[in-house]
Amino acid sequence: MPLARSLSVTSLSGLDEWDEEFDREDAVLFEIAWEVANKVGGIYTVIQTKARLTCEEWGENYFLVGPYTESNVRTQVELIEPCNAPLRRTIEKMNSSGCKVYFGRWLIEGSPYVVLIDVGFTAWSLDRWKSELWEKCGVGVPWFDREANDAVLFGFLTAWLLGEYAAQCDEPPHIVAHFHEWLAGLGLVLCRQRKLPVATIFTTHATLLGRYLCAGNVDFYNNLAEFNVDKEAGDRQIYHRYCLERAAARCAHVFTTVSQITAIEAEHLLRRKPDIVTPNGLNVKKFSAMHEFQNLHAQSKARIQEFVRGHFYGHLDFNLDKTVFLFIAGRYEFSNKGADIFLEALARLNYLLRVNHSEVTVIAFFIMPARTNNFNVETLKGQAVRKQLWDTAQTVKERFGKKLYESLLVGQLPDVSKMLDKEDFTMMKRAIFATQRQCQPPICTHNMLEDTNDPILNCIRRIGLFNSSQDRVKVIFHPEFLSSTSPLLPMDYEEFVRGCHLGVFPSYYEPWGYTPAECTVMGIPSISTNLSGFGCFMEEHIADPSSYGIYILDRRYRGIDESCNQLTSFLFQFCQQSRRQRIIQRNRTERLSDLLDWRYLGRYYISARHMALAKAFPDTYLYEPQEPTSATGFRYPRPASVPPSPAHSLHSSPYHSEAEDDDERYDEEQEAEKDRLNIRQPYNRNKDQTVDLPE
Ligand code: UDP
Ligand code: G6P
Ligand code: GLC
Repeated sequence: MPLARSLSVTSLSGLDEWDEEFDREDAVLFEIAWEVANKVGGIYTVIQTKARLTCEEWGENYFLVGPYTESNVRTQVELIEPCNAPLRRTIEKMNSSGCKVYFGRWLIEGSPYVVLIDVGFTAWSLDRWKSELWEKCGVGVPWFDREANDAVLFGFLTAWLLGEYAAQCDEPPHIVAHFHEWLAGLGLVLCRQRKLPVATIFTTHATLLGRYLCAGNVDFYNNLAEFNVDKEAGDRQIYHRYCLERAAARCAHVFTTVSQITAIEAEHLLRRKPDIVTPNGLNVKKFSAMHEFQNLHAQSKARIQEFVRGHFYGHLDFNLDKTVFLFIAGRYEFSNKGADIFLEALARLNYLLRVNHSEVTVIAFFIMPARTNNFNVETLKGQAVRKQLWDTAQTVKERFGKKLYESLLVGQLPDVSKMLDKEDFTMMKRAIFATQRQCQPPICTHNMLEDTNDPILNCIRRIGLFNSSQDRVKVIFHPEFLSSTSPLLPMDYEEFVRGCHLGVFPSYYEPWGYTPAECTVMGIPSISTNLSGFGCFMEEHIADPSSYGIYILDRRYRGIDESCNQLTSFLFQFCQQSRRQRIIQRNRTERLSDLLDWRYLGRYYISARHMALAKAFPDTYLYEPQEPTSATGFRYPRPASVPPSPAHSLHSSPYHSEAEDDDERYDEEQEAEKDRLNIRQPYNRNKDQTVDLPE
């Protein structure tokens, strides 16, 4: 009998040594999510980054199941014939019964197989399936909720797929079906209701009620145990969605979520304690040259600087070399994502930098998609003006070079006063005139559809950060995710993050929070909070997170004004660092990457699958739960070479110039080797792993 080993996280080593005894020969894994090949938010990042590792583990027996959309398939998926006979028969049978199911390879790392279902094509079944849902499960879905209608169609279609697949297999298969988030949860409920031979896992990446309650200015964490969940869901008109979510959590063989803090939330709001916490990982890129990520920072920063030159044309009265780029990014949930306190802290930082006569300028980017009708003219004009200045400079340079060359050809040193003629000056004056501007550089890069009701714009109006010359803090709101094909800022998100100095994510509601994790693996410091899964995870695993550039804001035990002051002080401290200190800090941040690698974090998913197989097929699989007392974890010590805070990392010589920074970086690296040796010591926390929430 194959034995699923129990899991204890005692080292940062790869999965192989841990997973060797598990025999998954005849087992098949389906992972089902609305975000498969469909970029929406963080769940897409989970599925997309985890695929490589899961493919390595499950090989030809791993299938991702998601919705079919033509545009996504055109750009991300290669459609092929189904790779095995039962699946081919399943898809043929469904397609001959009025469905449209596609099979292909998702063109990402690992090239996983995908089964994509066109839910719209089967919309004719919606009413019938809704009645069945009502009769069998007692959940009624109103006609006007489009997302919930999609959830019903997707749920019935995925349950159909799994049931049909089981029926098409010659031997009874051992199927694991892992469903993500409420939108995919109904498939799980139906698998259980129809008693399909499937081991089910449900992972929730947030709770619906948590998201809604937090967005509504409720004192969420102090009242977790008090909420009348049915009433709260009803008041917000999400009762049917909540029922689907809660049913999936309750029906699953194994229920998981992404962090301890969301586990507590789920226990109160979904009334089931997660069996396992499955923290989110990333694929960590290792460069052969250790400092490659620093070079990438410099290259990407240069591109952001180019954009800024255009955006602030006519008002470039600040030193770009002493400009610090901050950013916040993610779904546009104004207060859940902490955009509210970030703006307030920026206003306070502006004041501090001004009264301290700081030479530093801060540019804060807000990358949060909102409803727009394209870029605004003033922003596009900025880039056009910059381009024109560049072209003018190139033309004059060429004419100058030609005259110089001709003079050298006849053996004469040039007469400098004649190198530029009247025409050159006219051209340059014309270009300079074009940079005159009557208005301030714009805050927003796009035309907003709801400009007057937009929370970011309204907050900026209130605090008065209008990109004026006196402001040391400037704001740019880009209400669209970044893309390398944008005519305005042609960079993809990863390049942009690399070019910034600090990611600021002061979330109030954040089950995990990929954005600061992505910063970390790229060696970019970040601010998160002790109410985010990522922040708590880092606090748990690092002795002194801020010395690694992981600033964790206290939003749990402090009022909003106090948290805002703490955020302001983090930002002000950061602005006071020299270039050398920033380089050293980036090196330390990047060193934490291993902690966030799927190679390490993937084991929690493996454990969840073992547990589900053992629960669904107890005659074949055995899961040995971990002894609670052996809860060992890993903890990065304070770096030996690090002074208590970066602000104390002083120059070694009074004549230090920033040009020396690069050499010093290497000295620091040698010193840091000490830290590296320390890092791999197992750390016995010897205490309860749960997160204490305020009473
Ligand atoms: N993101 C992106 N493009 C952007 C900004 C953000 O692809 O311009 C991605 C980012 O890489 C991250 C995700 O959006 O993986 C946001 O995930 P997170 O877990 O932080 O928050 P969620 O939106 O899921 O609540
Ligand atoms: C990287 C590059 C250096 C550059 C530095 C700028 O470390 O390798 O050449 O000087 O970035 O750092 P800063 O924090 O000022 O953007
Ligand atoms: C959700 C959460 C986010 C998390 C992501 C992936 O969208 O809001 O915090 O990182 O899922 O788990």
